[in-house]
Amino acid sequence: MGKKVTVVGAGFYGSTTAQRLAEYNIFETVVLTDIVEGKPEGLALDISQSRSIEGFETKVVGQTTTPAGEGYEAIEGSDIVVITAGLPRKPGMSRMDLLEVNAKIVRSVSENVAKYAPNAVVIVVSNPLDEMTALAQIATGFPKNRVLGQAGVLDTARFTHFVAETLNVPVSSVKTLTLGSHGDTMVPVPSRCTVDGKPLADVLDADKIEDLVKRTRNGGAEIVGLLKTGSAYYAPSAAAARMARAVAEDSGAVIPTCAWVDGEYGISGVYLGVEASLGAGGVKKVVETTLTDGELAALKEAAEAVRAKQADVASM
Ligand code: LAC
Repeated sequence: MGKKVTVVGAGFYGSTTAQRLAEYNIFETVVLTDIVEGKPEGLALDISQSRSIEGFETKVVGQTTTPAGEGYEAIEGSDIVVITAGLPRKPGMSRMDLLEVNAKIVRSVSENVAKYAPNAVVIVVSNPLDEMTALAQIATGFPKNRVLGQAGVLDTARFTHFVAETLNVPVSSVKTLTLGSHGDTMVPVPSRCTVDGKPLADVLDADKIEDLVKRTRNGGAEIVGLLKTGSAYYAPSAAAARMARAVAEDSGAVIPTCAWVDGEYGISGVYLGVEASLGAGGVKKVVETTLTDGELAALKEAAEAVRAKQADVASM
C-alpha cells in the first residue's frame, strides 16, 4: 500500500503544502481537510486537475470536517499528518499572541487525529510553533518522537537566502543553521554557517552577520508586515513538505526540527529546535552539534523560555 499523508487546514500554508506533497509523486494519497465547507474539496479538485501537466499520479482528496470530528474518517490510515490549523498572525502580532486561540484549535484537531490516525507521525506547523508541538503531543498522547514541529528548516532556509543574496552567491554554496525556538529565542549558529566551505565569519563582517541573524529571527514578521493579511506560506510549506518527505521515505536525513529533547546539550524535557534525523517513526535521533559557549548558552535560554510556555499549554 502506498503512503497516505493528511494536511489539516486548507489555508495558504496547508494548501501549498498539499500541492508540494502531491507534486513529489511519492504518496498514494494526499488528504486536505478544513472546517470551511467545500474549501478543501475545491482545492483538492483544483490540484488534481494539474496532475497531467505536472506529471504526478497522487490522489488528492479534500474533506470538510467539523470540530466535533465529522469527516475525519477521511484521514484514516494516514502515515503522516501535517497540522496547519489555526490563525496566522496579523501585522504587529508576535507568534505568541496566537497561543490561546490556536491552542483550542490544535487540541481539538489533535484529539481527532489520535482517534482516526493513531499510528501517524504528526508534523505541527501552527504557531506559536514550539508550544503547539508540545500541545499536540499531549493531546494525541503519541510517543514524543512521533510528534515534531516545523521551524528550523524554514528559519535555516531564510538565513541561507539572506546570506546568498547579500554575497551574491548561489544558495547551493551556502550552509546555515538555526536552533532554539521559532520565535524571539531563535538561535542562529554562525559557527556552523559556511559559504563554499569557508566559515561565514571569513566572508562577512560581524555587524553584517548580526543584521542577517536579526532579519532571520524577524523573517516571518517581515512577510506578515508586507502581506498585511496572513503570513508566509511558500517557504514554510516547502519546509513542512520536506520534513514529511524525509519521514515518508524513511531517509534518516538530518534536518533542523522542533523535537523532544531528552538530555542533549544538557537540556531535558522540552520541545526545542535542534537537528534531528527523521524517518518512518518521526524523530529517529536528536543529533548534537558542537556549539560555541555563547551559542550553547543561547540554546539553554531558548529552552527555558519555551519550557515555561509549554507548561502553560498543558491546561489549554
Ligand atoms: C513564519 C510563520 C509561518 O515564520 O511562522 O512565516
